[in-house]
Amino acid sequence: MKINRVKGTYDVLPEESSKWQQLEQAIRDLTKVYDFLEIRTPMMEYSDVFHRENDLSDMVTKETYDFLDRSNRKLTLRPEGTAGVIRSYVEHKLYAEQSLKKVYYIGPNFRYERPQKGRYRQFSQFGIEAIGSSDPMIDAEVIMLSYDFINKLGLKDVKVRLNSLGDKLSREAYQSALKAHFEPHRKTLCSDCQVRIDKNPLRILDCKVDAKHEAVLHAPTPIQYLNESSKAYFDQVIKYLDAADISYELAPRLVRGLDYYSHTVFEVEAKIEGFGAQNVLGGGGRYENLVEELGGPQTPGIGVAFGMERLLMAIEMENPSWFNQHHLDVYIIQFNDALKKEAVKIAHDLRAQGIKTNMNYLNRSFKAQLKEALRFNAKHMIFLGEDEYKKGYVAIKNSETEVQENIKIEEIVSYLSKTIYGEEL
Ligand code: HAM
Repeated sequence: MKINRVKGTYDVLPEESSKWQQLEQAIRDLTKVYDFLEIRTPMMEYSDVFHRENDLSDMVTKETYDFLDRSNRKLTLRPEGTAGVIRSYVEHKLYAEQSLKKVYYIGPNFRYERPQKGRYRQFSQFGIEAIGSSDPMIDAEVIMLSYDFINKLGLKDVKVRLNSLGDKLSREAYQSALKAHFEPHRKTLCSDCQVRIDKNPLRILDCKVDAKHEAVLHAPTPIQYLNESSKAYFDQVIKYLDAADISYELAPRLVRGLDYYSHTVFEVEAKIEGFGAQNVLGGGGRYENLVEELGGPQTPGIGVAFGMERLLMAIEMENPSWFNQHHLDVYIIQFNDALKKEAVKIAHDLRAQGIKTNMNYLNRSFKAQLKEALRFNAKHMIFLGEDEYKKGYVAIKNSETEVQENIKIEEIVSYLSKTIYGEEL
């Protein structure tokens, strides 16, 4: 019986996995210079971690994978990283250290969404969270990291869109204004939105059904309802971004699709052909109550998460040369079977120096080996011929420059180390 993969999931095939590794490495390098440490939390949590009171986001109400385990515990596959990280922060009392915790994570999440290009039911996120400070400097730092990240990937047509929902009081004032605004349109809104008017009118703004409704298009914006201190906070964030020369654009209608945000919210968009609506590479914002809602002391946090698949697609489209062109450093081509033993030794010596080496294991013809070396994008080819070998030489060809040289057998490793690493061993 043939069984295919689950709808909305994908396989990373061997030829593709090096791209993932390269992106992951870029993330590790970036988070290191910003001094964020990795946190790894489970993929499943008790459902209450995500299904919190008053959370009416689509993600929580319609998209989670909820199930009972064999002991009837209510569990949920994480649909995002933040809530699990905060659960862990509270459980391990990391707040007791009274310092700012800066963490990052890379890993799979699960949402029951309609699959399409750039949208999956299992997808991976790179996210960061900075927990424990309400200084606008840290808002700016999270945005700066996001901006640097995208630039490092060579994505040029990128926009950071920025807005503020303000503090609790501003948010409440805004919610009341939205309620008053939508009330006269109650009957023409979808049934979900009719409930949202009473429970959480903010969520009407990102309703997929009513996206084009006149009342949604002309709804008031949060900025109009910021009180003085929220406005001052937002001005500070902007001041720091300007100081660091980060380009952003104010997006008065941006509210984000998750329910835990207050103050700063932002999204990073790429304009990439063929991407359609899935052009949002990442998004984040400040959250003031999540730690408390999950049983900890009142502690603010801010974070952002990027979709790894979308990042890879964006690089592939905009800057494919960012991916290492060369899968292999060396491919050893054997002219005939007589020198197999020598090929095994050379490969072993090269690998011991960290040089990525492969060769022919299928008794292939010379032509077929050459083809395979090209397919593997081998940076160098070693031609192992019986006559030359007897004279103490092999030929090494650089695939990029097409320069071919005869190299003494005992100098193969040092020659290749020098060309690959730029130094002799
Ligand atoms: P989010 O906007 O729901 O935020 O997701 C962040 C990013 O994950 C999106 O911009 C998108 O690139 C990617 N993403 C989301 N859903 C899918 C999907 N079904 N398929 C592929 N990619 C997807 C959060 O998750 C928040 N936890 C971000 C955050 C961290 N806020 C504060 N800290």
